[in-house]
Amino acid sequence: MSLLIKDGRVITADADRIADVLIEGEQITQVGESIECPNADVIDASGKYVFPGFIDPHVHIHLPFMGTNAIDDHASATKAALAGGTTTLIEMICPGPDDEPKAAFHEWKSLAEAGACCDFSFHLSVVRFDELAKEQVRDLVANDGVASFKVFLAYKGALDIADEQLFELMEIARELGVIITAHCENAEAVDAMQKRLIDSGKTGPEWHEPSRPRCVEADGVSHLCTFAELTGAHVYIVHTSCNAAVDRAIAAKDRGVNVFVEAVAPHLVLDKTYAERGDFEGAKFVMSPPLRDSEEHPHLWKALASRDMVTIGTDHAPFNFHGQKDMGRDAFTLIPNGIPGVQERVDLIHTHGVCAGHIDLQTMVDACSTQAAKIFGMYPRKGEIAVGSDADVVIYDPHFTGVFTHADAESQVDYSGYEGMKRKGRCELVIRRGDIVARDGRYVGVGGGGRYLPRIPNH
Ligand code: URP
Ligand code: ZN
Ligand code: ZN
Repeated sequence: MSLLIKDGRVITADADRIADVLIEGEQITQVGESIECPNADVIDASGKYVFPGFIDPHVHIHLPFMGTNAIDDHASATKAALAGGTTTLIEMICPGPDDEPKAAFHEWKSLAEAGACCDFSFHLSVVRFDELAKEQVRDLVANDGVASFKVFLAYKGALDIADEQLFELMEIARELGVIITAHCENAEAVDAMQKRLIDSGKTGPEWHEPSRPRCVEADGVSHLCTFAELTGAHVYIVHTSCNAAVDRAIAAKDRGVNVFVEAVAPHLVLDKTYAERGDFEGAKFVMSPPLRDSEEHPHLWKALASRDMVTIGTDHAPFNFHGQKDMGRDAFTLIPNGIPGVQERVDLIHTHGVCAGHIDLQTMVDACSTQAAKIFGMYPRKGEIAVGSDADVVIYDPHFTGVFTHADAESQVDYSGYEGMKRKGRCELVIRRGDIVARDGRYVGVGGGGRYLPRIPNH
């Protein structure tokens, strides 16, 4: 089937023009003015934006964490992604300290292949790091399309990695050309702060942020960048929440460290007062690094506008309020960390970033799509509207107004982190490799069809 998108405002990371886009099969075959194709179904996109399919570089779906599992499966999470314009996502494989990397990779991949509706790839978290794990990690890079690792400088005893191992892993990454994505805090400092607060009776979700303040995150960024400087590995700092942390990354970059910085939607839109809400409601907004003071928002937007921060993900990590978040009623340290948002990201960034005047549309496309494709080795197949690119296209209605509400969510989680917030803009049509899979913010596909994207190390 062919689709001809006519007269839309085609916005990519480096161009903004009125044009037609012809899709034949799974690919874009023409971009230009006055394209004719008698057999194609014509979509009138006048007055609408035409974006490349968005890419979320930071998603958790199958996530065993803090004594429970994230509540989405690959079908629900990827339907949510598509409804919000995300046609490709990169999920974090998060095995436990005793799990073998190969088994974890195959577990995550088979779950995704059974249910995913959008295309997907993986960052491989390296938690276990004995001789067997080292061998398997190399094998996964050589034979299974793994091109990015993940490390946690957080979650002591669960997911964190010792410095000795981190250093060696970074040397391997440098040798293989694999980029290391990193959650930057300081596991020991957080652990000590948590104990101090709990021991003094400070047990509610409002104490989550004080247990891991901005200086702890900034310290984690410095630490990672020092190791990157020593080993030559390329690093990507996920979910960076505050100016102090961004500044440490910029300082490292200025000394020649290859460091990329990711923002995530919750840190740009929500603030720590959400986690301070009464009746334990704050638990819905417990994530790490935590939501910060709203004074951080303009700094983050400025860093995105200047491209010091290069990508915007979600860190979608859905845990039900009832039955999961409430495991931490007596101690905030037991609240599963994470906020859902894979569906809302693009509309949040359009509303709070573009319409508020912080970033322009091309920066939005670059940060929410193209940069992730480039950094993680999927460009120009993904993240671009060009001849030969996959036909992942979003036709966006910038004039739609409404509110975010859980009733519109495709995710299985029992709340929305953005309930009642005003929104401007909505995906009118989402096309994944030539198929229309979402309309007016709802998934309308037939299920499945998502494809694994093996990648080649490119750093
Ligand atoms: O709170 C968060 N971010 N939960 C998911 C795990 C992680 O650290 O990314
Ligand atoms: Zn994290
Ligand atoms: Zn995460």
